Amino acid sequence: MKRILAIETSCDETAIAIAEFFGPKRKPQIRVLSNIISSQVKIHEKFGGVVPNLAKREHQRSLVPTLLQALSEAGRKDLRFKIYDLRKTPKQKIPKSKVLNLKSVLAREPELFKQFNKRIVPLVSPKIDAIAVTYGPGLAPALWVGVNFARALAYLWGKPLIPVNHMAGHLYSAFLQKSGGLQAIKFPALALLVSGGHTELVLVGGGGKFKILGETLDDAAGEAFDKVARLLGLGYPGGPEISRLADRLKSDFDGFEVGLQRIKLPRPMTNSKDYNFSFSGLKTAVFYLVRDLGVKRAKKLRPFIAKEFQDAVVDVLVKKTIRAAKEYKAKTVLLGGGVAANKLLRRRLIRTVARELSNTECLTVPLGLSGDNALIIALAAFFAGKKKAPSKIGADANAKL
Ligand code: KG4
Ligand code: ZN
Repeated sequence: MKRILAIETSCDETAIAIAEFFGPKRKPQIRVLSNIISSQVKIHEKFGGVVPNLAKREHQRSLVPTLLQALSEAGRKDLRFKIYDLRKTPKQKIPKSKVLNLKSVLAREPELFKQFNKRIVPLVSPKIDAIAVTYGPGLAPALWVGVNFARALAYLWGKPLIPVNHMAGHLYSAFLQKSGGLQAIKFPALALLVSGGHTELVLVGGGGKFKILGETLDDAAGEAFDKVARLLGLGYPGGPEISRLADRLKSDFDGFEVGLQRIKLPRPMTNSKDYNFSFSGLKTAVFYLVRDLGVKRAKKLRPFIAKEFQDAVVDVLVKKTIRAAKEYKAKTVLLGGGVAANKLLRRRLIRTVARELSNTECLTVPLGLSGDNALIIALAAFFAGKKKAPSKIGADANAKL
């Protein structure tokens, strides 16, 4: 059995999870002891996107309360976790030299150190086997707060540290079943990872070998949703807003008659031979459409534009995924990342895999775990993580899978 405490701060969610893995190695099971997310969306909303230094400040403020919440929730769920009953947790005193070392680990996060010293240092070490942390990709200032926090915890509690690639988290998230268990995967698998910062098609071999077959040449799918939402005067993040509007239109027609003008957007790179994507042209097409329609008409036609935009993105993603799955004879197709919350994308991918690939299973991340959270980081640490010396771990904003 292995208990992992995972920390995720790559973007605008401060997240900590504690998960327990047990059972045979080829068919492991998971028990989620806690999965806490403290979202900063409200803070970044007015800027229409994530502001890195504000994200850093908020992570500093939220990490300690989020950890305490994760520990106490784990304590309530599992009697053997009594140590996490914060009211009863035995207190410890540590040597001054250790406090000074912790202060130097958190030298760039003074606000975090203050809370850490007051509320975490006195707690004795919880019963966990390792600490996992997202080291990249993501926003550098945000990543560093999480990494330094994890280093401080690992030092304080004497636990090994596992650096985790954020996209590996989104990849393994599709292994999770709705019921809470873990799915046994047949390899080779093909993963479509679609988030705010990335759009990737990844070939996954047994033993955790990844090969990126294609990625976006410009905007990521989620980024395109966010930018188009902005063009349409919708809120942030744009993905949920656009899909809510689009899904209100029931009929499945192809485009919409606006007088003589049809709302028809391009499907960029659908026919290119490679597995790369490009969404910035699609965003520009929406820009010109809104300009030509005029603000008033564009606002009236918003649901139709949203629907056509969503259809265009989903068309491209599904077509290329299916083509790659066929070429590489994938036995499993995985869908993960923030955009995997999109119902049309989930439905179309599942249906197309069932129709065109008879022996292939399509697994989508459970709704509610598609966005950033630390449970998927614990999962990736369990499957693919390697312990590393804390001094050797640093944030890498452009980390590759
Ligand atoms: O994975 P994620 O939470 O963060 C990153 O790692 O980037 O992805 C966030 C992205 C945002 O761009 C958001 O607009 C998009 O996921 N998103 C959606 C939906 N829900 C979230 N995009 C399309 N449809 C949705 N329902
Ligand atoms: Zn993400």
